[in-house]
Amino acid sequence: MEGFSQWPKKKKIDWIDGSLSGNEKDLYQELSSYWHDGEEEQSLFEGFSENTVSNFHLPYGIAPNFLINNNMYAVPMVTEESSVVAAASSAAKFWARRGGVKTKVLGTVKNGHISFLWLDKRATLESKMPGWIAEMKAAVKPVTQSMEKRGGGIREVALKCIDEASGIYQLFVKFETCDSMGANFINTVLEEMASKLEVLMSVNCAGGEVLLSILSNYNPECLVLAELECPIQALGEFPGGMDAEAFAHRFHMAVTVALKDTYRAVTHNKGIMNGVDAVALATANDFRAIESGAHAYACRDGQYRSLSRCTLENNQFHFSMEIPLAVGTVGGLTRLHPLARRSLEILGRPDAQELMQIMAAVGLVQNFAAVKSLVTSGIQSGHMRMHLRNILQENKIPEQFHNQICQHFLDHKVSVSAVKDYYRELSK
Ligand code: MEV
Repeated sequence: MEGFSQWPKKKKIDWIDGSLSGNEKDLYQELSSYWHDGEEEQSLFEGFSENTVSNFHLPYGIAPNFLINNNMYAVPMVTEESSVVAAASSAAKFWARRGGVKTKVLGTVKNGHISFLWLDKRATLESKMPGWIAEMKAAVKPVTQSMEKRGGGIREVALKCIDEASGIYQLFVKFETCDSMGANFINTVLEEMASKLEVLMSVNCAGGEVLLSILSNYNPECLVLAELECPIQALGEFPGGMDAEAFAHRFHMAVTVALKDTYRAVTHNKGIMNGVDAVALATANDFRAIESGAHAYACRDGQYRSLSRCTLENNQFHFSMEIPLAVGTVGGLTRLHPLARRSLEILGRPDAQELMQIMAAVGLVQNFAAVKSLVTSGIQSGHMRMHLRNILQENKIPEQFHNQICQHFLDHKVSVSAVKDYYRELSK
């Protein structure tokens, strides 16, 4: 296949259509039905990526009642998974009545590196590097100066040895990127520094070569803390008559399982990322970067563990999480994607540090909701109730029965067969 990217949309779709089995609905009709009416809007979306033939819709929901540092937020969340927004909303309301979430930014440093080959002596490199760093910084001044005016820029440059035997070294660079996630800024600065480094190495010795220059998505110093705390008794009563004390102990033990056992930890953290990613998507932040960084942080001591911790001391229930979140509220698609722009408006136009705190709060509350369900009623009853609308759609149950079926399953166990049986009964 040559030249695909140059083809008009219609030709691309026809080409794909040719490889379909035949009895599918008309592909062009289907894909074009998801285009925006306005040509300008559609071409804006097409510009975000490449070879675009349609738009892929995901639900955009709102989780109200997020009390974070005494400020109330309605949080936009984009997710395809049923129950996530409902669980976040209900746990946010639960905690709003108990003081809400407290959050704090612990650091905003972001990292990048230039990995290079140096075939001369290590000591020679070490002696030359302080002068070279100064020259590299001066060379990138035209790129860094506007970030410096905003209070950001390069914070530190250090030489690291990756593998002395092979002559692989690294310049490890720390950045402050203010309200932008900073990927473009960091990568531009690194590439400019790398060009200068290559010149410096070639002038000063025989063997030096840059391998690669790139930001790191592991930013353990771009960190935020979120906490939930209340007296154990204030937790109230839980389904099945479970009292606050019993709940707190079961919850604490469940978090211990996630702390000690990687199989559980991954799922536990997935519950956190259900919330974090949904806000990342709603604000057009890079959720893959956030995910990879968070999971690396979860195994910073060598074993993959839960990101959240629970303590029960002095009759206080304390549930907290530290998570690295390199996010932005300017740059990238944050202002270009119309709904991301709206999300930031709905959140009260936060700066990057406030957005870090909102995301961490949502992640922790989401985690609380999941573990609470797991140690009380289990997640399936709530999840299946939320999934009911999908079951109705998938099984092509006519719209006029939906409300009656939903009403019935408020106090009946939801399963695909139970829904079909009940529908059959109704339609007799
Ligand atoms: C499902 O998306 C998330 C959970 O599995 C998280 C957890 O087990 O803690 C419910």
